[in-house]
Amino acid sequence: MAASSLDQIVNLAKRRGYVFQASEIYGGLNSCWDYGPLGAELKRNVKDAWWHSMVHTRRDVVGLDSAVLQHPKVWQASGHLDGFSDPLIDCKKCKARFRADDMDNATCPERHNAAINDDCKSHFTEPRDFNLMFKTTLGPVEDAGATAYLRPETAQGIFCNYLNVQTTGRLKPPFGVAQIGKSFRNEITPGNFIFRTREFEQMEMEFFVPPEKWEEWYAYWRQERFDWYVKLGVNPEKLRLRDHDADELAHYSNATADIEYELPIGWKELEGVASRSDFDLKRHSEHSGRTLEYFDGQTRERFTPYVIEPAAGVDRALLVFLVDAYDEEEIDGETRTVLRLHPRLAPIKVAVFPLVKKDGMPELAMEIEDSLRARGITTFYDKSGAIGRRYRRQDEVGTPWCITVDGDTKEHGTVTLRDRDTMTQERVSAAELPSLIAERLAP
Ligand code: GAP
Repeated sequence: MAASSLDQIVNLAKRRGYVFQASEIYGGLNSCWDYGPLGAELKRNVKDAWWHSMVHTRRDVVGLDSAVLQHPKVWQASGHLDGFSDPLIDCKKCKARFRADDMDNATCPERHNAAINDDCKSHFTEPRDFNLMFKTTLGPVEDAGATAYLRPETAQGIFCNYLNVQTTGRLKPPFGVAQIGKSFRNEITPGNFIFRTREFEQMEMEFFVPPEKWEEWYAYWRQERFDWYVKLGVNPEKLRLRDHDADELAHYSNATADIEYELPIGWKELEGVASRSDFDLKRHSEHSGRTLEYFDGQTRERFTPYVIEPAAGVDRALLVFLVDAYDEEEIDGETRTVLRLHPRLAPIKVAVFPLVKKDGMPELAMEIEDSLRARGITTFYDKSGAIGRRYRRQDEVGTPWCITVDGDTKEHGTVTLRDRDTMTQERVSAAELPSLIAERLAP
């Protein structure tokens, strides 16, 4: 049985060390979250899987790691200073703030979060634009010249480095530049756990193409990105591609499709695949005075590339992987909770158990654990409690394999390897275990 509410995921995430409320000992900070030991591993695995598929396995994409703080003119050119705002309504009575374009979901904090009503409305201000960028000051003096912004998307760092990357790598369109990093937006209505937060991480790739090839590459990346989630185990029936209507398109885009997932809170955007035309390179050319084109010295060919951008959220992807993996099943009158995470995403790959705490079994188990760790395979050692309970604890955090060291291990050099999903057990050689697991984890 799948998760019927987000609360089930929030509870498991907190109980087992995936995600904690930020500043919890001080009462928490609204919509800010910290990733615990298992969450930190899962997040790294999500980012590694993305980088592997977008950069390492491709000849036509390279990586970049640009600064969070950029020149304020970047945000002028990109349109974020003037246009990156949500319409905001204030309640003069209870001081609550609402997004004018999301009033259907608005609730009143003074009346225990009941839906807003006509009395509420009589206290509302007119909608006004609220810029979502976080402002900060560079250096010790707080004057207008020192104002800087935390980036609201990683994409602009890529556009500003277009020439640096293209010329140093002698790249010819079509080619892409990929980046993973934190972005910040002062969202008016953050919420739903890690789905919408003010600090989040993005995985974005700007793919520069000859203008006449944009449709072809747009179709390609739409499908490629959809398939990435499916390859990592996400149920395709819970995923869909939704094309934006003309009035939904961002100011820079001539076509966009969202990859959406059906969370317990409804169908929600997981990633956007946008055709950004030549908007960004042209705007940065105008504002910087630098020509941002592709020029072929031999053929004298010259053009401003069009851009296709798959833009995903790390935190949202992580939430979807958790929700999609969550399963409860009845076994012998008991509920087994299993996270059926793809083995490459699972934070712990192998749990190692000595059957009993004597006869040299713990020492042998730790030796086997060390042999796995030496191959870069994450492990967890657990020596206490009934073996069935130890299996259940690992099922709940998504560990794909458990091995048990028993009396036969010393004598025959074999261990029991138990599979999380099928719960079947096989007898395998302890010496061959690291290679066997590495093979099963290979992409
Ligand atoms: N460069 C294009 C861009 O930033 P976007 O649709 O605004 O496009 C891309 O963001 C992805 O970043 C979203 O699909 C989502 O996964 C993630 N994202 C955006 N805002 C977020 C927020 N407040 N909290 C968590 N993730 C967010």
